[in-house]
Amino acid sequence: MFSYRHSFHAGNHADVLKHSILVAVMKHLALKEVGFTAIDTHAGAGVYRLDGNDARQSGEAQEGLLALMRNKSKLAGPMADLLLDYRRVLDHFNPSGGLLNYPGSPFIAQHLLREQDKLKLFEMHPTDIRSLQTQVDALKAGRQVMVMHEDGFNGLPKFLPPPTRRGLVFIDPSYEIKLDYERVVVAVSIGLKRFATGTYVVWYPIIPRPQAHSLPRHLTNLARQADKPWLHATLRIRTGARDGVKAGESLKPIGLVDSGVIVINPPFTLYEQLQQALPQMVQLMGQDHLAGFQLTQG
Ligand SMILES: C[S@@+](CC[C@H](N)C(=O)[O-])C[C@H]1O[C@@H](n2cnc3c(N)ncnc32)[C@H](O)[C@@H]1O
Repeated sequence: MFSYRHSFHAGNHADVLKHSILVAVMKHLALKEVGFTAIDTHAGAGVYRLDGNDARQSGEAQEGLLALMRNKSKLAGPMADLLLDYRRVLDHFNPSGGLLNYPGSPFIAQHLLREQDKLKLFEMHPTDIRSLQTQVDALKAGRQVMVMHEDGFNGLPKFLPPPTRRGLVFIDPSYEIKLDYERVVVAVSIGLKRFATGTYVVWYPIIPRPQAHSLPRHLTNLARQADKPWLHATLRIRTGARDGVKAGESLKPIGLVDSGVIVINPPFTLYEQLQQALPQMVQLMGQDHLAGFQLTQG
């Protein structure tokens, strides 16, 4: 438990996928004057350094966000709006240019809050919660941003429904323990009962584990039962450890290559935005013939 540190993974392909969607959902919520509440059940440490030891050791940002930006001249046309909006948020955290600071989900969300909006952050890791709390304190945001050293699955229901009945629940566990998959489904099920009109964004890794395989089906079934629209986007950047492995050969430890996001009650514009952005993500971060995306809705 708690061996996962997001500092090794900040700015990787999965962050590009989930955070560009997070930006789009936040921007859509801000189109109406009435305030909203964003809840991040697994917040992480806050802002990360892409030139720090952890990021350099893993090299994940290099084949994620940094590849996306490095290769953008390969695009035949302009970059998709979803990616441009995401880049604008990142620029705010890098006022001197370049991409050295990477805002995790709490700071992406915080940056897009208006005065009337609220942010609730849960984090369990003893070191990451300290970093998160210190960085949030420095914002002097007062009661607008609440940081809790609590289990995000257990804590979520107490904020649902939010007072204005408008909001977003961002669920991004590390899936270190298999039970996380089941807990995501329970959290969304309780969430939809208490706050059926909320937008739920769930990230998950696409790995050879039955629980990971069935998670999208469970979540889209919940959406169907609640009669709510959903969207499912996946992004793969290359051949994985198991591809092409013959009997008797060992798996190469080459990290996560594929992940997905399910959005329940997505902004009506998100599908079209992803139709433009996902092929560009594949073109700019894809490394071989197995790179690709899927986009479905219901
Ligand atoms: C994938 S990381 C989060 C990254 C962050 N959402 C972002 O996008 O920048 C998952 C985080 O959840 C934390 N965590 C694990 N179990 C938790 C739980 N039950 N409740 C809250 N946080 C938890 C881990 O310590 C880790 O920092």
